[in-house]
Amino acid sequence: MIWTDFLYHPFWALLSALLAFVVRRQRRGAWDPRVCSVQLKGKTAIVTGANTGIGKFIALDFARRGARVIIACRNLSSLDSVKEFAERILEEEKALHILVNNAGVSGLPRQITKDGFEVSFATNHLGPFLLTMLLLDLMKRSAPARIVTLSSVNHWRGRVDFSHFHGDNITYFMDNVYNHTKLHNVICTNELARRLQGTGVTANSVHPGVVMTEVMRHYPLIIRCLFNIIGFFFFKSAEEGAVSSIYCAVAEETEGITGKYFDSDCSLALPAPLARDAALAVKDFEICERLTSKL
Ligand SMILES: NC(=O)c1ccc[n+]([C@@H]2O[C@H](COP(=O)([O-])OP(=O)(O)OC[C@H]3O[C@@H](n4cnc5c(N)ncnc54)[C@H](OP(=O)(O)O)[C@@H]3O)[C@@H](O)[C@H]2O)c1
Ligand SMILES: *[C@@H]1O[C@H](CO)[C@@H](O)[C@H](O)[C@H]1NC(C)=O
Ligand SMILES: *[C@@H]1O[C@H](CO)[C@@H](O)[C@H](O)[C@H]1NC(C)=O
Ligand SMILES: *[C@@H]1O[C@H](CO)[C@@H](O)[C@H](O)[C@H]1NC(C)=O
Repeated sequence: MIWTDFLYHPFWALLSALLAFVVRRQRRGAWDPRVCSVQLKGKTAIVTGANTGIGKFIALDFARRGARVIIACRNLSSLDSVKEFAERILEEEKALHILVNNAGVSGLPRQITKDGFEVSFATNHLGPFLLTMLLLDLMKRSAPARIVTLSSVNHWRGRVDFSHFHGDNITYFMDNVYNHTKLHNVICTNELARRLQGTGVTANSVHPGVVMTEVMRHYPLIIRCLFNIIGFFFFKSAEEGAVSSIYCAVAEETEGITGKYFDSDCSLALPAPLARDAALAVKDFEICERLTSKL
């Protein structure tokens, strides 16, 4: 028997299939939203970017629990549009118990919005930041209430440079911009939580996992194909990717928890050192407040 016979033995195909099966099963987290009996009747929730991907499954879960779910689609890169939406909510809604900042983009080419911001920073951070600030009083009046912001494990590779907001000093390489925006998500969520102490409104950030969604839509076809092929075995489905956010937004176990970062398996995790720097957080938050308030 030559060595290639050994290599081509059907045993390997069987073993691979078994491995794939095991890996797929392992992807399921410890917490199962279908077993969680929390009801949201009489509660109102907003989920941004819920027309597709992870957000869609977050919104569906809330709706199944009886919540009134408002899905906020387009256009978080424009502060006027965010403001318009928030004004309508304040006019029409008596209460707001859950806000999930889910919408986000990766791989957008450089562009400066009419507000003067780099488009990925506007979409992933400044838009949701402003939305949250505008809805804050309503949420305080509706307490207990929860704010959940989808960040990413990529925030570990982000850096803070306030000139980035205006598109300066950025290189568009290896998800660089995305990484920076996701770091700002965690930093400002932590500072928001600190400011909200005692109000009954909590704010946390989550990593949903590596999830098969349209998140790669701005990347070249070949990268998207690779993502989908590898993802079929190893990545979460959009439904699975929604679990850590749902956990954070509705579970009894997370009641009262604030200023924390949840991993994709619903466990509490330590965010990157920059996201734990309290002085940096105050500065970042104030800068974002200033940038988004001059409308
Ligand atoms: N997938 C992953 O592996 C992964 C990993 C870590 C973190 N995340 C985070 O999870 C969140 C959801 O991502 P996903 O994977 O579900 O991606 P997705 O399938 O691409 O969905 C993104 C959502 O954001 C919306 N969106 C994009 N730009 C917007 C804008 N300017 N204004 C309003 N909405 C906008 C999209 O709306 P349109 O359909 O109208 O474009 C879509 O509803 C994002 O914050 C992402 O950073 C994802
Ligand atoms: C969203 O806003 C950005 C920035 O103002 C703009 O470039 C883009 O065309 C808008 N997209 C949609 C779908 O309105
Ligand atoms: C962005 O984060 C991803 C995931 O952690 C990493 O692979 C990539 O190298 C980072 N980009 C940069 C420029 O550091
Ligand atoms: C870019 O970064 C350098 C070094 O950190 C800094 O001196 C410079 O002011 C930045 N550029 C802008 C436009 O902020």
